Amino acid sequence: MRDLAGKVVMVSGAARGIGRAVAERLLAAGCQVSAGVRDVSRAPQGSAGFAYDATRQGSAQGWVDETVARFGRVDALVNAAGINPRASLLEGPDDAFQDLWSVNAMGPIHVIRAAWPHLVGGGEGRVINISSLSGKRVRNDNLGYAMSKFAVMALTQEVRRLGWDHGIRATALCPGFVDTDMTAHVTKWPRDKMSRPEDLALIAEMLLRLSSTASVAELLVNCRHEDTL
Ligand SMILES: NC(=O)c1ccc[n+]([C@@H]2O[C@H](COP(=O)([O-])OP(=O)(O)OC[C@H]3O[C@@H](n4cnc5c(N)ncnc54)[C@H](OP(=O)(O)O)[C@@H]3O)[C@@H](O)[C@H]2O)c1
Repeated sequence: MRDLAGKVVMVSGAARGIGRAVAERLLAAGCQVSAGVRDVSRAPQGSAGFAYDATRQGSAQGWVDETVARFGRVDALVNAAGINPRASLLEGPDDAFQDLWSVNAMGPIHVIRAAWPHLVGGGEGRVINISSLSGKRVRNDNLGYAMSKFAVMALTQEVRRLGWDHGIRATALCPGFVDTDMTAHVTKWPRDKMSRPEDLALIAEMLLRLSSTASVAELLVNCRHEDTL
């Protein structure tokens, strides 16, 4: 098991929901957390908050540069920022498909690319991409969201392929419903039967603690039974 004390972990979407819970859990575990947030005043207490907006060109590079200037290195990334506007096959709107691609798929790509030299340099970099069960099967009409999360599955495989010999290990963490703002509109499943952000944070900590010889490629988290998952 790896000691997380002092590890520098960049967490996007750290102002709310899963990203915030992960950041708080990692702080409690002794990590130095670089919180990538759109409003730095909302970074979790104890973290270093830096401006990060997935839709702004150069934002990921700026966040990485500021993190390295502050801490001297990057040991791990948790890509948690995400959106889920409805983008259906027959009705669109096409703008929503574009937004989903930009934030959910290109966002993590830009952060990983900018942090890559530092992850390689450290010799045992870690990447956790918060994907979704929507990255594993299509079960509702938000095709745009599912496509963006399928893309995150491919991205995670590529990080593993390209990074393995550099000691980099990557995991796609795939929850179903989690009780956050993102599921505020969900009425078909009770909130008290959704996964908790704290559960995902516990899993993220565990993934970061695992040694390089016990790497988890995908981890699916169900709050309800599904025949195929
Ligand atoms: N909740 C679920 O049921 C569920 C299930 C499976 C997967 N996921 C995935 O888990 C991740 C976290 O979701 P969540 O449930 O924690 O959602 P959430 O509570 O809605 O939080 C989303 C986070 O993403 C940030 N964000 C949104 N657009 C951004 C942008 N353009 N640039 C940078 N940050 C941006 C938000 O920042 P602001 O606070 O500034 O808006 C917020 O911190 C997402 O990738 C989501 O797809 C969620």
